[in-house]
Amino acid sequence: MSQPRFDPKSIIPCLLCVSAPCSEGCPYDLKPGRRIRALRFANYIGAGRGLGEHCLNCPAPCQKHCVLPEPLPIQKIFSSFIEERHSLPLRDVSADISVDLCGFRLENPFLLSSSVVASNYDMCARAFQMGWAGAAFKTISYLDMHEASPRFSASKNPDGSFQSFKNIEQLSDHSPAENFEIFRKLKKDFPTKYILASIMGRDEEEWRRLAIDAEASGADGIELNFSCPNMVEGHTGSDVGQIPELVELYTRAVKQAVHIPVIAKLTPNAMSMSPAAEAAKRAGADGVAAINTIKSLTNRNISQALRHGLADAKIAVGGLSGQAVRPIALRFIAELARNPELKGMHISAMGGVYTWEDATAFLSLGAHSIQVTTAVMEYGYRIIDDLVDGLAHYLILMGYDSLESFCGSVLSQVVEIEEVERDKVILPRFLRSHCQHCGRCYLSCRDGGHQAIRFENRTPTLDPSKCVGCHLCILVCPNHAIESSETLRKKVEE
Ligand SMILES: Cc1cc2nc3c(=O)[nH]c(=O)nc-3n(C[C@H](O)[C@H](O)[C@H](O)COP(=O)(O)O)c2cc1C
Repeated sequence: MSQPRFDPKSIIPCLLCVSAPCSEGCPYDLKPGRRIRALRFANYIGAGRGLGEHCLNCPAPCQKHCVLPEPLPIQKIFSSFIEERHSLPLRDVSADISVDLCGFRLENPFLLSSSVVASNYDMCARAFQMGWAGAAFKTISYLDMHEASPRFSASKNPDGSFQSFKNIEQLSDHSPAENFEIFRKLKKDFPTKYILASIMGRDEEEWRRLAIDAEASGADGIELNFSCPNMVEGHTGSDVGQIPELVELYTRAVKQAVHIPVIAKLTPNAMSMSPAAEAAKRAGADGVAAINTIKSLTNRNISQALRHGLADAKIAVGGLSGQAVRPIALRFIAELARNPELKGMHISAMGGVYTWEDATAFLSLGAHSIQVTTAVMEYGYRIIDDLVDGLAHYLILMGYDSLESFCGSVLSQVVEIEEVERDKVILPRFLRSHCQHCGRCYLSCRDGGHQAIRFENRTPTLDPSKCVGCHLCILVCPNHAIESSETLRKKVEE
């Protein structure tokens, strides 16, 4: 997709303020804060739509209102859009991004995932008003919850954003009756939004009772939580999800009790998700959802314990979510989508979705809907603006007339490792005008590769006879000055 040549690093300092002061200063009501947020969430087309010359000639009060000690160069950032607007498809578009969720039409594929972000009426109502298509409500059970404080930890990227997020939270601390009353009110006030009732029982009878009450209170579907890794009570959560026989038993109990669709939410704390997914299918489940969080500890847990003294610090394994788990989530979604035994099941994917680009990765692998928690915890429900707008633009530009025709489009290219082409070498190519002569490509090739890059007069050159085409140099280059070339070398000729 065509993208403006703005420098992504330029927007990193932006704090993404609530009611962005920069927007208040704009004499043309161009909402600079909203546009910078669009850029941060990879919605480049949306960010540039409607910008014109007047922006370049303006005294830029937006920058004066910026709360940063060194204001964000908003005008400069926007200028690249204005200069390139003829080559950018900055038009309004409307693609059909609705999807089917087991017989219910979602206006878009984005649901809040079961967690704190969907845990009461006001939160869900606000999210629905802002454009979320539905919510998997915080898991309901008959258990008494006594949560820990603090209960979250995070590993951070250099810009302060979450790289990964760890929680030791369990289930809803409202009673089932309170939660079911919320469903009734939500369904009455938002009939077009999807209410997925996440439940967890300790035995067949509890699973059944919760499911029947959820259906009676208007839930559109039921998500069976076989995957919470933080349960204090044994034989619940991810303990169950690792035992296909229990998954089958409880799924069957629920399926026999209700008429609404049933989705099994599976645990990534297993070598493979297929045995549990197949067990759910045998019991009649209509879909699968994945991933729940991955058992983990963070550096922060350890360093805090070291700082505060090891004796009274307690460090518990908890569930990891957010950007760092996305590659693992993608792997599990591909596994589920490729499994012929699961054909016809709805796949609801989650794990580190922040942007529409993240969502397209899951959807192209065969997911049908997308759920989100950590990105909402970090940035709020407002991320739905760019998820929807960015996805719609992408589909139009890629020539898809509907999201459903796009789902699964890349799945056939996911192969077993033994099927990967191994007889050719694709050489890297230096883009001289982008090179900043730092030598990082040389260093990584020398110490972590095959010594195929020379660095003389601060200029890298490739020795094609030594290059194995691993592309480490492309990955480490800080300035995108190396790309994959068309040049192939047959290994058999070596
Ligand atoms: C604070 C927190 C609480 C959660 N609570 C639940 C829960 O009650 N039930 C559930 O099925 N998953 C729960 N999850 C897991 C999320 O629904 C989701 O599967 C996981 O976080 C991965 O998605 P993400 O990377 O978008 O957060 C929770 C996650 C977090 C971070």
